[in-house]
Amino acid sequence: MKILSVVGARPQFVKLAPIAHAMVGRAEHVIVHTGQHYDELMSDVFFRDLGIPAPDVNLEVGSGNHGAQTGAMLAGLESVFDAHRPDWVLVYGDTNSTLAAAIAAVKMHLPVAHLEAGLRSFNRRMPEEHNRVLTDHAADLLLAPTLSAMSHLRAEGLESRSLLVGDVMTDVLYSVRDRVTREGTATPLGLDAGSYMVATIHRPDNTDDPARLAAIISTLAGLPKTVVLFVHPRLRSLAQRHGIALDHGSLRTSPPLPYPELVAAVMQSAGVVTDSGGLQKEAFLLRVPATTIRAETEWTETVDLGWNVLANNVDDIAAAVGRRAPEPTTDEPYGDGHAAERVVTALT
Ligand code: UD1
Repeated sequence: MKILSVVGARPQFVKLAPIAHAMVGRAEHVIVHTGQHYDELMSDVFFRDLGIPAPDVNLEVGSGNHGAQTGAMLAGLESVFDAHRPDWVLVYGDTNSTLAAAIAAVKMHLPVAHLEAGLRSFNRRMPEEHNRVLTDHAADLLLAPTLSAMSHLRAEGLESRSLLVGDVMTDVLYSVRDRVTREGTATPLGLDAGSYMVATIHRPDNTDDPARLAAIISTLAGLPKTVVLFVHPRLRSLAQRHGIALDHGSLRTSPPLPYPELVAAVMQSAGVVTDSGGLQKEAFLLRVPATTIRAETEWTETVDLGWNVLANNVDDIAAAVGRRAPEPTTDEPYGDGHAAERVVTALT
């Protein structure tokens, strides 16, 4: 059995880690990196820190507009798939790399499995929403992380191809949490535990309009606690282009962190402010309150359980961050930390 994983962007390397480990001794695993993310801190450190074998192929597609980037991946993947003829192509999440791999594979009649299937924001402005809907409808096996993802797939007539496996990000988060707890954890910038918030902003809806970006940054700078902003390259380049200073008031900036350092930083923080899908859920799993600067979330369980508040209106962010601590919960809507084993069993 030969399984070929296609990844390209930072959150996909995190999801790949538990899958790559679970593949050992059970299937031949070929890893293809599209090159969508290429900076050392956006790519290589994840392979190194999470013990993922180096990619067998890197297409080095790089950045570009959606059409150019996705098209370059499609062309590159076709010849890689032809050379390897895998039994399954496994695609992850909702980036342009996901969609390109799904389309390239179905056109070649190669079976496609979609990991993290069935998530929906119902916001058609998000590139991720196009990518995940199109990928789900193209794929042969839909590996869903949650019951709500399963219900979306059912509503779209895809139930017979769907399987609830749990969330592989829970697998990797729990193992890294245990590792950093064992080995001792440093806080970012040497700050005292509990004295700071963690922030990330990278979505086009928050970064591309200079007035909105400036309002978000000035709100974060005005919060009563220190806010450590881990700056995604997209945010860095747009802030520079629009002359928006990031380092002022309560805001302190840092380059993006490797995964174990990020987990350690969140664990010891007073809260998280983000527009990242992964980070709002990681905060919940570490039982740190999150405020999400978006109108909706795919991870609705974090909101239902009180650990995440959506604040799309910039004027609502400060009140959301300052809210009372959520009620403790023992609910595990994202699985038990063994999703990757179920994925490999389903494929093999
Ligand atoms: C992509 C995904 C998004 C995911 C995010 C995680 C799509 C459409 N979007 O968004 O779903 O949440 O990754 O980070 O697939 N850049 C660098 N170095 C890099 C990578 C990017 O400098 O290693 C800069 C480039 O200026 C690039 C910009 O960041 O144009 C955006 O990168 P891109 O991969 O297009 O989208 P992301 O915003 O990272």
